[in-house]
Amino acid sequence: MPLQIVRNDITKMAVDTIVNAANPSLLGGGGVDGAIHRAAGPRLLQACKTLGGCHPGDAKITRGYNLPCRYVIHTVGPRWKGGRYGERQTLACCYRTCLALAKQHQCQSIAFPLISTGVYGYPREQALQVAIQVIREFLLEQDMMVYLVVFDRDSYQISEALFSDISQYIDDRYVQEKSDVLSRRVSLAPTPKCGDDGYFHDIAHLWLEPDEPTLEQALAQMEESFSQMLLRKIDEKGMTDAQCYKKANIDRKLFSKIRGNAGYKPSKPTVLAFAIALELSLEETKDMLQKAGFAFSHSSKFDIIIEYFIQKGNYDIFEINQALFAFEESLLGS
Ligand code: APR
Repeated sequence: MPLQIVRNDITKMAVDTIVNAANPSLLGGGGVDGAIHRAAGPRLLQACKTLGGCHPGDAKITRGYNLPCRYVIHTVGPRWKGGRYGERQTLACCYRTCLALAKQHQCQSIAFPLISTGVYGYPREQALQVAIQVIREFLLEQDMMVYLVVFDRDSYQISEALFSDISQYIDDRYVQEKSDVLSRRVSLAPTPKCGDDGYFHDIAHLWLEPDEPTLEQALAQMEESFSQMLLRKIDEKGMTDAQCYKKANIDRKLFSKIRGNAGYKPSKPTVLAFAIALELSLEETKDMLQKAGFAFSHSSKFDIIIEYFIQKGNYDIFEINQALFAFEESLLGS
């Protein structure tokens, strides 16, 4: 999954390079700047002293010294002054310049903090949108593992309205589906008879034997594998392979494995990531899941959240991953 949102301390990230949200002097400070300097050791400050400072939106690179990463890219984000002084452009420039510098240094992985969202006061939700938009654009053209490191959960919230709408959707289905299934199975079941041994035997199948597919369904399933359906859908949608797996936030290597092996068994998040990238309907998504040996389950909040977005016709995988992250669920993608 080329873009991941993770909750961690950026000084612990074992990637090729981390990004420091610095100030123009590059001589250290508080927040993530202070944490990085403390973890890297005094040689980092020595190196920064030779850089001659940094303008907002620009970026400069040093070694990582005692940090578990090879490099540190120091950038200076905009101070938030209400949004009418080019803050968004400067912030976008920070992410773009850091990614370019990382690529220039053959980095295959990079970790960003949420630049400017601490001392510099940039509203977190807006800053996150800028970060994701710039990183997405970059990943359409380049292969790199990009981490957005969120230090504490409250520094990362999806909008209240969206959060409560999804919560309501989960509460309804999560409870309703379970009782529905149970009541439907019990209502269809023959009246339980007590056996000679005093036990009820003929209701066991309600829980032990899920509905067996019909012979036709079983044969249909065998006709087309998951990867065959995936490739067929890519063609039907008029997409290229790269457009599909990048939109699914899946890396090229995994897609090649799937493409090269008709019997490949992907994970459920991977199947759903492709369903979202292909903008499949709920029925088509269930069909694709079935071909990979999975089914939607309303005893899984993850599944219900995906279903919520498909029902709303919102196929933006990064918005979906933000919602999954906010509900502390795993993210879509490999
Ligand atoms: N790992 C990851 N993220 C962190 C860490 C950490 N160890 N520590 C802080 N953060 C997060 C904060 O929660 C915030 O979301 O980094 C984000 C950026 O906050 P700041 O570090 O305050 O950076 P910024 O808002 O860009 O302000 C820069 O602050 O530290 C000084 O010298 C720096 O003057 C500069 C200013």
